[in-house]
Amino acid sequence: MEFLKNGFLGTRGDFLSDLLICALAIIVPLLLFAIQSGRVRRIKIHHTVMLAIYYTVVAYVIVYEVNMLAKGGMEFLEANVRMDKNIYWIVTGFHVLLGAITLILGGITIRLGMRAQASVLNLEVKKRHRKTGWTTFFLLFFTSVTGLVVYYLTFVYG
Ligand code: HEM
Repeated sequence: MEFLKNGFLGTRGDFLSDLLICALAIIVPLLLFAIQSGRVRRIKIHHTVMLAIYYTVVAYVIVYEVNMLAKGGMEFLEANVRMDKNIYWIVTGFHVLLGAITLILGGITIRLGMRAQASVLNLEVKKRHRKTGWTTFFLLFFTSVTGLVVYYLTFVYG
């Protein structure tokens, strides 16, 4: 698909990378809205928006990685990088690790959320869901920040 080759932000980024950067402007406020819904116990909205965000992010990561591999994977990224490759891979590796942990913890949080909703009196599950929920939120935030750094180092710097 020809349009996937070129980005639209005027950097060296491809279409899906540029789209992801723009999507953050929607995902982050939506996530804050979903958390606030959880805090005021508007659980139906909280549940629906959280699941929509989670499944969209998982689907996007799969499409993104398949597209990246089709382009040559690590070689494609390296061809764009204009800095010390070792430092670049340390930063990128940290971002990927953080992202993987966030996705796994997100799945655990959703499971705990479902259990919290199903058993209204189970305060322990609610407490655990709140705790993993906040941890997932902060990890997702740092994954996004390191993602922006990786985008900059790959497609803008140099
Ligand atoms: C990754 C997805 C999710 C995240 C990050 C998340 C995060 C949170 C957070 C941070 C809170 C606590 C807000 C506060 O401080 O009071 C909360 C509350 C709650 N969430 Fe989620 N949530 C997620 C998915 C879900 C799902 C799928 C359900 C299922 C219905 C759910 C059900 C609940 C319930 C019932 C509460 C209130 C718990 C209580 O009464 O203490 N959550 N969530």
